[in-house]
Amino acid sequence: MREIPPSSTLRVLSLAKRLEREGRRILHLEVGEPDFDTPEHVKRAAWEALQRGMTKYTPSEGLPELREAVAERVGAERENVLITPGAKHAIFCAMEAILDPGDEVILPSPCWTYDGIVLSAGGKPVFLETRMEEGFRVDPERVEEKLTPRTRLLVLNSPCNPTGAVLERENLRALLELARERDLWILTDEIYDRLVYEGESPSLLSLSGSLEGIVYINGFSKTYAMTGWRLGYAVAPRELVAEMNKIQQASTSCVPGFVQVAGLEALRGPQDFVERMREEFRRRRDFLVRGLSSLGLRCLPPRGAFYAFPRLPEGWGDSTRFCELLLEEAGIASVPGAGFGPFGEGHVRFSFACSLEVLRETLEGLRGFLEAHRGG
Ligand SMILES: Cc1ncc(COP(=O)(O)O)c(C=O)c1O
Repeated sequence: MREIPPSSTLRVLSLAKRLEREGRRILHLEVGEPDFDTPEHVKRAAWEALQRGMTKYTPSEGLPELREAVAERVGAERENVLITPGAKHAIFCAMEAILDPGDEVILPSPCWTYDGIVLSAGGKPVFLETRMEEGFRVDPERVEEKLTPRTRLLVLNSPCNPTGAVLERENLRALLELARERDLWILTDEIYDRLVYEGESPSLLSLSGSLEGIVYINGFSKTYAMTGWRLGYAVAPRELVAEMNKIQQASTSCVPGFVQVAGLEALRGPQDFVERMREEFRRRRDFLVRGLSSLGLRCLPPRGAFYAFPRLPEGWGDSTRFCELLLEEAGIASVPGAGFGPFGEGHVRFSFACSLEVLRETLEGLRGFLEAHRGG
C-alpha cells in the first residue's frame, strides 16, 4: 500500500474544498469532468428503468443489449465486451487479469494515473518519456529500449489525459507491430475519442484487424457527461474477458441495471449533444491556449480531451509548489504535472471543462500571479 500514490487530482480537490470551507472563492480547473449535465433523454431512460423495477443484480458481464450495442460500435462480438462501473474499473480488471506479480507495464508519461492500478495489480510501472517537442508521440524505439523479459503490457491513451495529444496512425501502426513481434499486450484507452478538435483520432482497433493482444477501453463519463453514473467498458479477446469478469465478480458484482439502460440510450439515442459539447469545448480550448501563450506559458494545442498542459515558466522547476501557491494566492485549482508520472514534472494541467467566464478569470488571475512571482 505504501507504494501506491494517492491521486494528485483528488489531493488538489480536497485542498481546494478546504479553502472553500474557509470562505474563499476557488476557480476549479483541476477536475476531469464535463460541466455539462447528462442529456435529458439518458436520465429519462434510467428513471423509466427504475419505474419498471430494474433494481436488482444484473449479469456480472453486463446486460446483453448494452454489450451488443458496444460490440456493434467497435465491430466485435458480445462475448468480447465487459461492462464495468467506470472505465477505471475496466482498466483495473484488465491489469488484474493480465499481470503476474512483478510483470512490467510500459506507461508513456505524462500519463493519467495508470501507475496506481498497475501497482494494485502487483505489476511494476516502467515510465517512458514522451516529449512536447515531438507532439508527445510514443517513440517505438524508446519503447524497445525499455523492454525486458518481464514486460507484459504497453498502455496507450489517445487522445491523452493530460497532454491532449492524439497518436498518429503511423505511430500506432509501428507500436502495434512491435507489440505483436514481442508478444506484448496493448491496453488502448480511448475514452476521449469523441472529443477531438483537429483532424481525426484513429482507433487502434481500426488498424489491428483483430482483437488479438488488445484491450480496448472506453466509457460514458466524458462523451455523455456521465462521470457520476460509473459506467465504462472493455473490449478484448473473449478468453481475457472471461478472466476479467472473474475480477468483476470478486469485487463489484455488476453495474446497476438502470445505469446500463441509460448507457444504452446514450449509445443508441440522438448524438447531437456530443457535437454541441465538443463545439463548446473547442471554443474554450482556443480561448485558453491563446491566453496561456500570451502569458508565456507554452503548450501543445490539445487536439483532443479537455486539458491544456503548458510548460511552467523558467525558474519554476517544481510543479507541486507552483500549483499550491497558485491555489492559495490566486484561488486557481490546477493539477501539478508531477502527478502524471516522472515526465510530467515542469508542467501544469488546466481542465477547460468549465465555463468561458471561469477561464477568463483564471487567465486574469494567472497574469497577476506570474507578475508577482516573476523570476520564480
Ligand atoms: C484517460 C482516462 N481514462 C479513464 C478515465 C476513467 O473514467 P471513468 O470515469 O469511466 O472511470 C479517465 C478519467 O479521468 C481518464 O482521464
